[in-house]
Amino acid sequence: MDRRHFLAAGAAATASTLLPATAAEAASENLFQDVNFFSDGLALTPREYTALLDKAVQAGNFAPDYYSRGGTIEALEAKFAERLGKQAAIFLPTGTLANLLAVRKLAGNDRRVLVQAESHLYNDSGDAAQMLSGLTLLPQAPGRAAFTLDEAKEWAARTAGGRVESPIGVVSIESPVRRRQHEFVPFDDLVRLTGWAGEQGIRRHLDGARLFNLPQHTGHSVKEYTALFDTVYVSLWKHFNGASGAILAGDTAFIEGLYHVRRQFGGGLPYAWPLVAFVDTFLDDYEALYARAWQAADQVVAALEASGRFTARRLENGTSTFLLQARGITSAALAERAQKHGVLLPRLPDEATEIPLQVNTSLLRKSPEAVARAFLGP
Ligand SMILES: Cc1ncc(COP(=O)(O)O)c(C=O)c1O
Repeated sequence: MDRRHFLAAGAAATASTLLPATAAEAASENLFQDVNFFSDGLALTPREYTALLDKAVQAGNFAPDYYSRGGTIEALEAKFAERLGKQAAIFLPTGTLANLLAVRKLAGNDRRVLVQAESHLYNDSGDAAQMLSGLTLLPQAPGRAAFTLDEAKEWAARTAGGRVESPIGVVSIESPVRRRQHEFVPFDDLVRLTGWAGEQGIRRHLDGARLFNLPQHTGHSVKEYTALFDTVYVSLWKHFNGASGAILAGDTAFIEGLYHVRRQFGGGLPYAWPLVAFVDTFLDDYEALYARAWQAADQVVAALEASGRFTARRLENGTSTFLLQARGITSAALAERAQKHGVLLPRLPDEATEIPLQVNTSLLRKSPEAVARAFLGP
């Protein structure tokens, strides 16, 4: 079930609080069994979600928030601030709002913002930066993951040469880049770009919605990335399986008082805890589990290729996505076959020749052999 369906179904679902006591019970109810290749995380069903929620609130130290302050939300903010190597963090109901609040505050009076043309901030926020915050986004490098230092310098020079002063206040970078099949921006490019920006007094924001996937593919740690930026946003619902939510981290002075702006934008949820109550349980092991998920994916791919009926292609600078080509079966028929074995594939038009598959930690719910069998059929 994809996230949209999950949310729609969630509203109608009965609020069962019965958590299976044992793994066997969970299996017999078919909970926590499906492997999916279409999402960033576990793609929890409503029953799975409420089971985890129930477990979280039964913990002795569980405390709800009030208007997104205190309790479990405050604890989550502190935990993420520490993991991200920043002084402080704030919970926001969406990543869309996290990016917006970051760049508007970082910009101050310097209203121009350099962004990737392929970024969420530029494409998927409905001109919010322009309309709601009076910022001018300068989109760079259409069709590519990111812009180069030379391109940034060119815009800085053009801006400096204008008849009316209008400085660039922020460089905002998304990595991995969702619209480029989750391609990462090379670390050395980030070092150069953020180093230059720092020298110019330009502030730096990282849209790291899927930041925790980067170390596996680049060898650079989460903290190495965050150290390059003034602020960083991480999604709580992609890798960490919340129902929604985002963390925005930065230094204490930046985060302080930001909850007023959160509320100003209608984002001060009276009770945020049901969205993220168990998210912290997915944080500690995430990188190790994602690494294991890729080991499993490699085994699945090897088995599929050995059959002679499939070819897999890894992407240059790729992260979670790889492309699978199937011979002698349409992608819809393949998805139907796999689903019977509890392996969920993206639904694509029949003319699609390559199926983009997402590696996530749900892969660890079955053995690589069982996952491969779901593709190969009986
Ligand atoms: C890279 C990136 N940034 C920001 C967002 C916005 O997050 P949200 O859906 O929580 O608003 C998304 C995704 O959905 C995304 O993929």
